[in-house]
Amino acid sequence: MTVTLPLQAETILKGLGQSIFARNLLYHESIGSTNVLAYELGAQGAPEGTLVLAEYQSAGKGRMGRGWLAERYLNLLFSILLRPRLPPNQIFSLTMILALATMEEIRKRCGLQPMIKWPNDIYVGRKKLGGILTEFSVKGKVIEYAVLGLGLNVNWNPGEGDGLLYPATSILAETGHRLSRAELLIDILKSLERYYGKVLQGEFETFYKRWNEHSLIIGRAVQIESGTEKIRGKALRIEPDGSLVIEDREGKERRILSGDVFWLTDG
Ligand code: BTN
Repeated sequence: MTVTLPLQAETILKGLGQSIFARNLLYHESIGSTNVLAYELGAQGAPEGTLVLAEYQSAGKGRMGRGWLAERYLNLLFSILLRPRLPPNQIFSLTMILALATMEEIRKRCGLQPMIKWPNDIYVGRKKLGGILTEFSVKGKVIEYAVLGLGLNVNWNPGEGDGLLYPATSILAETGHRLSRAELLIDILKSLERYYGKVLQGEFETFYKRWNEHSLIIGRAVQIESGTEKIRGKALRIEPDGSLVIEDREGKERRILSGDVFWLTDG
């Protein structure tokens, strides 16, 4: 039988202690989308660190207008609100640090080696373990607020055909073990807060380098689908602003701002 215990807000608050993410926790058994609510709260002046956590989303949002599906009580679904007062071209650093915090804490807890698939997916091998959706509002020349949403497959048993565009996996499927979602969430948020401190101090180098080292596609032959365009080449690097640089088949460097990437070789 599958044990499906709800998350306990008090446990999470206790574990978070003095963290900024303990300032304003909103726990929902069921919600449309945690990102949508966090974004609305951002517009209404909610404090930095606001954490919207849900067990189920009826309209979970993914990138490029896609949805995000997750079974109740088995995965992590949350969004956080930040107010970093950075120029908008640095927004990608926030996606980077959430991906890094998530990967590193998973690695510590269960030894899995997740990697980042540009721009914001968390993969194990060729399967998708999680995804990040970053949305933000700009006022003047700075980010007014940013919402980072994470959907992470933890104790879910993915069936055949799950994960529409990419095959999906979970920590349970990869390791055969269940993890405490509350403990994992607390660890991710504490690590994220440490990285966030570095972002605010302009110490990008530490995590930018680490993020690139965890990139699944660097050095690989890839195909990027961006709108109706399909571009093939070799993935060279990811720039600090989040754009992907590839060498196309004519040997020219091309910068790609967004798209879906498929890698063609494992070497
Ligand atoms: C993607 O892979 O396309 C990004 C998926 C992001 C899903 C998370 S689940 C929590 C948060 N709320 C949402 O509606 N989306 C994000």
